[in-house]
Amino acid sequence: MTWLITGGAGYIGRHVVHQLAEAGERVVVLDDLSSGSADRIPAGVPLVQGSTLDRADLDAVIKGHGVTGVLHIAAKKQVAESVAEPLLYYRENLTGLQNVLEAAVAGGVRKVLYSSSAAVYGTPDVDLVTESTPCAPINPYGETKLVGEWLIQAAAKAYGLSTVALRYFNVAGAAAPELGDDGVSNLVPMAFQRLTDGQAPLIFGDDYATPDGTCVRDYIHVADIASAHVAAVRRLNAAAEPISLTLNIGRGEGVSVAEMLAVIARISGNPVAPQVAPRRPGDPARVVASAELIHRELGWKAEHDIDSMVSSAWAAWQLRH
Ligand code: WQD
Repeated sequence: MTWLITGGAGYIGRHVVHQLAEAGERVVVLDDLSSGSADRIPAGVPLVQGSTLDRADLDAVIKGHGVTGVLHIAAKKQVAESVAEPLLYYRENLTGLQNVLEAAVAGGVRKVLYSSSAAVYGTPDVDLVTESTPCAPINPYGETKLVGEWLIQAAAKAYGLSTVALRYFNVAGAAAPELGDDGVSNLVPMAFQRLTDGQAPLIFGDDYATPDGTCVRDYIHVADIASAHVAAVRRLNAAAEPISLTLNIGRGEGVSVAEMLAVIARISGNPVAPQVAPRRPGDPARVVASAELIHRELGWKAEHDIDSMVSSAWAAWQLRH
């Protein structure tokens, strides 16, 4: 099997590429390098600079590298940006996916692994979110991820594909400092940026119906996200008959914003008390995964804890700042 990984130069993609290569899988990366970087691709893994918006790029890499499976990670993923630029997000995330599926079917590829997101759930009012929890995305980013799942399910039925959609919860950390997240659009890097600028980290609202009043999320180490992809690839490699799975990737444990900021203060050695700011529109009080189904279907469970996520993220941050 040779796996094409779109977006393999990005933060999550490069972690997946490293673990798949270390697991002995043959991989090739297609990335437009708009946000990822070529120097994060392991030696020996071919990198083709190209776009999922260009069907010819996809046909060439599938044919040229004898691709037999596609792991589609390339997407834009910033919620606020998706609200400001919905058409950009629909083009990048859905037209890109449609091109990947058309090229896969035309190229005889029958196994597809898709990067989805907890954003498909919107604001679920449940203690633990299962894969049967109704999906009601509240922003264009989440909509593109849900519609992407529908596209893949329809293609699987029509063309006999085997597919796994992985719904990432809140990803943090780095398997190595040089693989860290370059973005500053999520809690951990946003808090690091404030501390680096000598400012107090912000808590967007402390009047939610949660134990300490701040929002609760399911934080998952990016290395655990990557190992879940390795487990899914192995399941797809072994599938003699078409399979179709949609799985949460989380730890099943809720951690509040205030708790995360306390860990960040301790590990970064910056005991600056956070400052409470107004609520951010659209933030649900609690989004925590049930990780039962992925454990049952793939035998996978998360291995890294919050301290590991924050300490590895801080080491990566210090390397770049
Ligand atoms: C987490 C919590 C904020 C910054 C988003 C996407 C989701 C996934 C993960 C891609 C919220 C609070 C944040 C700050 C704060 N991405 N916060 N102060 O919104 O849970 O999920 O990223 O798949 O799809 O929706 O993540 O890190 O933005 O926020 O209080 O400086 O931290 O209000 O409650 P979110 P986040």
